[in-house]
Amino acid sequence: MDLLSVRNLRKHFGGVKAVDGCSLTIEAGTIMGLIGPNGAGKTTMFNLISGFERGSGEIVFKGIRINKLPSFKVAQCGIVRTFQIPRALTKMTVLENLMLAPKAQAGERIWNVWLRRRKVKEQERQIKEKSRDILRFFEISHLEDEYAGALSGGQKKLLEMARAMMIDPLLMMLDEPFAGVNPTLSRKISRYIDELREAGMTFLVIEHDIPAITRISDRIIVMNEGKILTEGAPEEVKRNRDVLNVYLGGDG
Ligand SMILES: Nc1ncnc2c1ncn2[C@@H]1O[C@H](COP(=O)(O)OP(=O)(O)OP(=O)(O)O)[C@@H](O)[C@H]1O
Ligand SMILES: [Mg+2]
Repeated sequence: MDLLSVRNLRKHFGGVKAVDGCSLTIEAGTIMGLIGPNGAGKTTMFNLISGFERGSGEIVFKGIRINKLPSFKVAQCGIVRTFQIPRALTKMTVLENLMLAPKAQAGERIWNVWLRRRKVKEQERQIKEKSRDILRFFEISHLEDEYAGALSGGQKKLLEMARAMMIDPLLMMLDEPFAGVNPTLSRKISRYIDELREAGMTFLVIEHDIPAITRISDRIIVMNEGKILTEGAPEEVKRNRDVLNVYLGGDG
């Protein structure tokens, strides 16, 4: 079953055709890689799908048209994304970063504090428990009380993924999860992604690290200059002449 289906997506910035008529589908429970040279339009594609940016074309998720929805509504539908440059709240701890992730907690409304103090307490306890379960999954429980700003680049990537898990996403879109991450952590991140996929989650992953992306992806989409150049199984894509040309910048 197609979880996500994108048709003729387009976004221009002045004369720059960042995304120029792209169509793709992602099957539920699979990992789709998205590669392409700098400026190909990969992040813009994420921005469009997640509602951070508006373009033309159609985006259908679980049979629902989502391309007119604001980003928080898209998230409520079950799509979550991480950023190329991690956006953790640096002056808060790792645990607080997770606990603040879900929207509309009862405790955010003042009357609830008076009318439903008990309920608020119970909800906070549940959120803390869930946060800790997620930190355990990503093996960063020991960093719970560290300020997010003090984490290494790789740990910040994990924190982003952990925060994203708080909304129980169906589709997680990762923007360069392996960039600037050491090989040991990189292998761990691959494993986490794989385990979550085993549990039924679907992924769309942007990455420049070709060995890492071919290792985890079921299929790979290659973008260049706003267009989809090709799509296929990792081995197929790696052998594709047009892909080699784009990466080597010559005639192969
Ligand atoms: N907000 C914006 N305003 C103007 N131009 C933009 C904007 N966002 C992206 N662009 C341009 O759109 C094109 C695609 O950018 P995008 O960030 O989507 O590429 P990318 O494939 O993610 O590249 P990278 O691998 O370097 O992250 C680039 O030419 C970029 O300069
Ligand atoms: Mg990018």
